[in-house]
Amino acid sequence: MCGILGVVGEPGALDTILDGLKRLEYRGYDSAGVALLDGGALLRVRTADGTRSVDALRDACAGLNRSATVGIGHTRWATHGGVSVANAHPHVDCGDGLAVIHNGIIENHDLLRADLVAKGHVFTSSTDTEVMVHLLEDELKCDGDLRAAMARMLPQLRGAFAVAAVSAAHPDRIVAARRVSPLVVGMTDTVAYLGSDVPALMGRVDSVLAVDEDCVVELTPGHAVVTDVHGVVVDAPVVSIDFDVEVADLGRYADFMTKEIDEQPAAVADTVAERLENLFDQPLDADVVAAIDKIVLVGCGSSYHAAMVGRVALESWAKIPAEIDIASEFRYRDAILSPTTLVIGVSQSGETIDTLEAMKHARRKGATVVAVSNIPGASMTREANASLLTKAGLEVSVASTKTVLAQVVVLQLLAISLGEARGVLDAAAATALRADLQTLPAALRIAVDDVAPMKDVANALATASSWFFLGRGSGLPVALEGALKLKEISYARAEGCPAGELKHGPIALIEPGVVVVAIVLPGPSAEKMYSNIAEVKARGATLVIVAPHDDHVVEGLGDFVVRTVPSGDAAAPLLAMVPLQHLAYAVARARGLEVDRPRNLAKTVTVE
Ligand code: G6P
Repeated sequence: MCGILGVVGEPGALDTILDGLKRLEYRGYDSAGVALLDGGALLRVRTADGTRSVDALRDACAGLNRSATVGIGHTRWATHGGVSVANAHPHVDCGDGLAVIHNGIIENHDLLRADLVAKGHVFTSSTDTEVMVHLLEDELKCDGDLRAAMARMLPQLRGAFAVAAVSAAHPDRIVAARRVSPLVVGMTDTVAYLGSDVPALMGRVDSVLAVDEDCVVELTPGHAVVTDVHGVVVDAPVVSIDFDVEVADLGRYADFMTKEIDEQPAAVADTVAERLENLFDQPLDADVVAAIDKIVLVGCGSSYHAAMVGRVALESWAKIPAEIDIASEFRYRDAILSPTTLVIGVSQSGETIDTLEAMKHARRKGATVVAVSNIPGASMTREANASLLTKAGLEVSVASTKTVLAQVVVLQLLAISLGEARGVLDAAAATALRADLQTLPAALRIAVDDVAPMKDVANALATASSWFFLGRGSGLPVALEGALKLKEISYARAEGCPAGELKHGPIALIEPGVVVVAIVLPGPSAEKMYSNIAEVKARGATLVIVAPHDDHVVEGLGDFVVRTVPSGDAAAPLLAMVPLQHLAYAVARARGLEVDRPRNLAKTVTVE
């Protein structure tokens, strides 16, 4: 979703901002813009060319001189007001001397706008953001101090925001603030940078300051001062960034999804190695761990599916009752939480607002909260009592792949450790489970390289418009994830369904032309799956069966049978996810679609 990049004190700030916005494209956006301070003048350029907007912005800026050292840039994902140049950020005040960019939603924008219009302000967009630039314009009349004006504006706003402003009257600075939405600051000796998340500043700085909620940060060349709404200087925690910039580059791959699927063995190997060394990045006290009597996992999208797989391990190996919630729903039930409840927020970005808010809610209710994230220093890691970071490297493609697998192995490693700590998993069993996870990368390599079977399926079925993915037990999250991948990038109607629920409704939709993808995992659920496969076959569905290499029962049942790589039970769902990634990718490509930035979707979802 929306991205922010600000630069103070760098010759050629415009190019730094354009490069940074290019890097932020992966979050998902539809328009872009930049405001520069140059020789006492404010210069603004905006474009609204969908996912080409940053390239269009670069073209539109081609003739500009590069002397400005201060500027702010933005990628917008439309919420209030359609995709248009008028609605693109930055927005400017009535005097064209002040510019504002914003991530998040101002919930009381209607009331604020009515007041401002009554005072004579002229609005030029339909956005909620524009109220802020006019509010700042009014507040600046008080004392001309941009930082103080920002501080006076904050209590007037309801909702979530990361906001940054530049003013022609203050040519050497950016002033910014946040509530809920993330905002980070990085510095070198001579330059200060502002970003909407840690990856925005990757490659420019090796640590960031995390700005607290309802605080104002003033950036000048090489400096940043964080103050509260009363102007009192506050400390901002410093978080180091240890990402390798190379990981964000496409290299020899056609697109990021192909690259990230291919990186899965390494993502799992690196995560297992790191987390075997040290389970937590920020540890939990041993007595807190020993007292845990209930676990609640929360997440969204693919992270929710990873949490579903992890839940099985937590119950089986640690013998702790584990619940799971869609993060956006968690706050709407009165979950029974206490200090002995462990709430685990699972999120590759560590910024998804629904998961972040669920974690905050859990902390307010006294639970112990852990973040599973791929981004060091992400908001969730700061909100949690402890963090378990995955080591998958930056994931750029909107459809998650390598981070999902890394999340599962982290949850499995947590389950093993909790089982040992509680004395319910003996040392030999724990060692065997850890050894399985260490051999997983080699099995994943085989699965990842085995592209051809699903390519054949995709070429035969690319035009099918209705798909069902069926699974049982650990096969259910695999089925749900397979359906999500397909709908995200190929736009086919795809539904993931517990195979046992088929007969309670979905089977009414099964008819010739419908594709059913059945996930058969080894174990007791397999026999029940055969029955469900027979039921849909009898109704004329085209059947794609994903099954273990030695499952001979399925041979005569499917139109297509795709084999999974042999493994232990814990690894089986992970290995079964890979062919479904191949399927989604191949269907999307056969339909001529670009996979990395599917329509309407965003990588980092910062609105509720
Ligand atoms: C978006 C992405 C999904 C992702 C979900 C949760 O919808 O498109 O790929 O699974 O957000 O994101 P998170 O960063 O919390 O894992």
